[in-house]
Amino acid sequence: MAFYSEDIVGDIREGNDIVDVVSSYINLKKSGASHFGLCPFHREKSASFSVHSDKQMYTCFGCGASGNVYSFIMKIENYDFVEAVQHLAARINYALPEERSDYAKKAQNEKKLIYDMNVVAARFFYDNISASASLYLDKRGIHPKIRKKYGLGYASDEWHKLYNYLQKQGYSKKMILKSGLVKESEKGKIYDRFRDRIIFPIFDASNRVIAFGGRALSSESLPKYLNSPETPIFDKSKNLYSINYAKQAKLNEIILVEGYLDAISVYQAGFHNVVATLGTAIGINQAKLISKYTNTVAIAYDNDDAGITATLRAIAILSEANLKIKVVNLKTANDPDEYLKLFSPDDFAKEIETAKNHVDFQIDNIKKDFDLQKTEDKIEFTKHVSEVLAGLSQIEQDAYILQLTQTTGISQSAIKSEISRPDIPQRKPKTRTITPEQEERRGLRDAKKNIINLIANSYFVYEKLHENYTHLN
Ligand code: UTP
Ligand code: MN
Repeated sequence: MAFYSEDIVGDIREGNDIVDVVSSYINLKKSGASHFGLCPFHREKSASFSVHSDKQMYTCFGCGASGNVYSFIMKIENYDFVEAVQHLAARINYALPEERSDYAKKAQNEKKLIYDMNVVAARFFYDNISASASLYLDKRGIHPKIRKKYGLGYASDEWHKLYNYLQKQGYSKKMILKSGLVKESEKGKIYDRFRDRIIFPIFDASNRVIAFGGRALSSESLPKYLNSPETPIFDKSKNLYSINYAKQAKLNEIILVEGYLDAISVYQAGFHNVVATLGTAIGINQAKLISKYTNTVAIAYDNDDAGITATLRAIAILSEANLKIKVVNLKTANDPDEYLKLFSPDDFAKEIETAKNHVDFQIDNIKKDFDLQKTEDKIEFTKHVSEVLAGLSQIEQDAYILQLTQTTGISQSAIKSEISRPDIPQRKPKTRTITPEQEERRGLRDAKKNIINLIANSYFVYEKLHENYTHLN
């Protein structure tokens, strides 16, 4: 962890007007001495998030979040204090001195080493494309240009090829292990993690190689896909495949797919605004990453039951990040990759343009389970749809209630009272809801973190702690 003096922390705070900083994330409207907007930290329909220019503080009357420009950045970017200082310093071109503890220096050096090693490994895989791997990529219809763009490579089926190579390049056993590129057996034998697999380097938004995915060439070898483990530079819940390209694509929405090859095919078809998750369900940090670049997501997950379940989950998560959500219809194709083999890029563009909004998608999905000719089914159907509508704004509710009345014949007033039943399950966010106790605990934890960070960033306190605890290093 770096340590910045109070002066520096103060200078940077003064240089970053909180209204400007917050405005780059949400729309603010001036009203009296404050600015108001929709709180980025919880889902709401009316603006209870206020920013005070003279106090340089923000407060949300809805969820209780409050703080200064540092806590805002920490919360919204998921940064620790030091990262927030660095972020805000960069924002105003403030040159930070290199004040770092030995421990922080070591961690930083280790990270840098792993970034470097990953580049070396990615090149190694890229240069190692075998005839069979090349044939496989041809069969999958990936053009050489795109292969290069995504740095696709191959890991041979030898046990120590990469390990030996990295050692020859001067990397230590300890660091090679930390990179996740090799594994250690119980007997202490080290071997390459990826063998006989097509390699997909995973880049972060800043174009750094943070990890790898590997696809088996034959359907017999399992698992089909293997990923790097979590390392000091890889957190799969915070990154998205192809985000480095999607962030540059000046298009209205981001297309969200499940697989690496889906992303590549969609990119190849001319849609550069595509990202894929990294072998797990999408999480809130990934939703926030998307919301840095766009306000609309078009979900194009697999066209099967698992895909629909994943889509419903994604809808809940993405709406927590206040994103507009559409769901792409892949017709007879199983996934976007297959869609683009069966249909044209123009067709795909139309699917995106005409994609249903997530409410229609959810309603149609419920409809599948019922026979609306039967009164009983009509009632059950209406109850389920009401759960979806309960999570919407008044205006949206009105529009859908009208539609629902037309399909079921049930009166608007009956639907309205169903929606406003106090015990109606909030179907929309199927994710965790936070209790007030949890909210308070979070607040306390954040406050403690802030205090510790502030203390740690006072040079005086740091020196004192350092004197007393150097033996711990
Ligand atoms: P899919 O099984 O849908 O594969 O997994 P796919 O993308 O269609 O791939 P191809 O077309 O058969 O090659 C989707 C994603 O889930 C993760 C990977 O990230 C993959 O891209 N996954 C899948 C794993 O992590 N492990 C697995 O064993 C399978
Ligand atoms: Mn596929």
